[in-house]
Amino acid sequence: MEKLKMNIQHVYKFVTEDEILKQGTNALACNRALHDGSRPGNDFLGWVNLPSSITEDAIKEIEDAAVNLRTRCDVVVIVGIGGSYLGARAVIDSLSNAFDWLQQDRKSPVIMYAGNNISEDYLFELKEYLKNKSFGIINISKSGTTTEPALAFRILKELLEEKVGKGEARQRIVAITDATKGALRMLASKEGYKTFVIPDDVGGRYSVLTPVGLLPIAVAGINIRKLVAGAVAMEKATADNISFEYNLSAIYAVIRNELYKRGKKIEILVNYHPKLHYFAEWWKQLYGESEGKDHKGIFPAAVDFTTDLHSMGQWIQEGERTIFETVISIAQPDKKLEIPSDKEDLDGLNYLSGKRVDEVNKMAELGTRIAHVDGGVPNLLIEIPRLDEESIGQLIYFFEKACGISGYLLGVNPFNQPGVEAYKKNMFALLEKPGYEQETAAIKAKL
Ligand code: PA5
Repeated sequence: MEKLKMNIQHVYKFVTEDEILKQGTNALACNRALHDGSRPGNDFLGWVNLPSSITEDAIKEIEDAAVNLRTRCDVVVIVGIGGSYLGARAVIDSLSNAFDWLQQDRKSPVIMYAGNNISEDYLFELKEYLKNKSFGIINISKSGTTTEPALAFRILKELLEEKVGKGEARQRIVAITDATKGALRMLASKEGYKTFVIPDDVGGRYSVLTPVGLLPIAVAGINIRKLVAGAVAMEKATADNISFEYNLSAIYAVIRNELYKRGKKIEILVNYHPKLHYFAEWWKQLYGESEGKDHKGIFPAAVDFTTDLHSMGQWIQEGERTIFETVISIAQPDKKLEIPSDKEDLDGLNYLSGKRVDEVNKMAELGTRIAHVDGGVPNLLIEIPRLDEESIGQLIYFFEKACGISGYLLGVNPFNQPGVEAYKKNMFALLEKPGYEQETAAIKAKL
């Protein structure tokens, strides 16, 4: 398997090699804590050895459920939010043909998403789209009580049952939730849906390699065995017996914390391929929810280049110097497209004729990196061999491991998210949910 690489030459102007190496012992202690569970959040460390512990039976069960949905449905709606949504979408978007869903003769169902917002227009339009489609639903919620997916599921379930009847609907709905607790578990047992369990010790944002991510990914026709194999390779490469100089997750975690100490409060994840847009959304949740607490933490942002060079490029080049960039670079494109020559050359592009489009993209990438470093923006580069299952598997685990180490270096519990509850409490109070009478009175007094 070709390996993920990291290039840190463009951070040395801002943090020296010595300063990075000095933090090695500290970072390895944090990595060890992820393995021995000796720090806060140790009840959510199931993801650490997850890739290597996925059994053949577990993979087979997921593949069988995927085949059932692929056989019965032209469209599968993934209902979920946050960690119960972003991992699947990150991988599916990264590894799917961007225009396949528009083709009549495609081999896999169209994947749609719901339950990640409460927009009436979105749900209405999705319902309209699904009316004439043969569709199924994967309903994902660890707690089984999250409002956004529960609401979307209620609406889509009604539509599906009206269309195909309760019996067939039962064959087209899969629930992924807690083993025993929550409204979704109760509903699934009562209705007789096929279910998968989200392990207790794996939090939402670390759950992409559980059925939460693997089932939707398999339904989309992506090879989950190769994805897991990539993650296993990175699990080994960042294990607690690996020295600091070779542990890329530990090095990345140290660099971002050292930059943070030097006033670089915002990390921008950069990609040069639109397919990686949702990978960055997944990464934003992973780091934002893990580190943004106790009034500290790097703000994770993301841009799609070169698109955003024509919008955010100005700010990055010359705005406040509180940022650094982490670029995800893809060594080899999957497809080949050469720039044709043109007899008249009216657009003046003949100097590029015969070159591949990716050569132009790579020069944009290199030129931008140099310009941004010259402009005072530290720059890390993470290179994956290509956009395939093994590379994405490596990248997922690389970032997960680095996030755990980085959170511990920062001195926070990277595995809780107490701040997410505040908006829910207010929303329930405003909606006058039974049991929230006191909160309703309190919030109304503030209006
Ligand atoms: O990472 C997390 O824990 C959150 O983003 C959750 O995944 C999200 O809030 C959805 O929760 P649930 O799966 O319980 O519906």
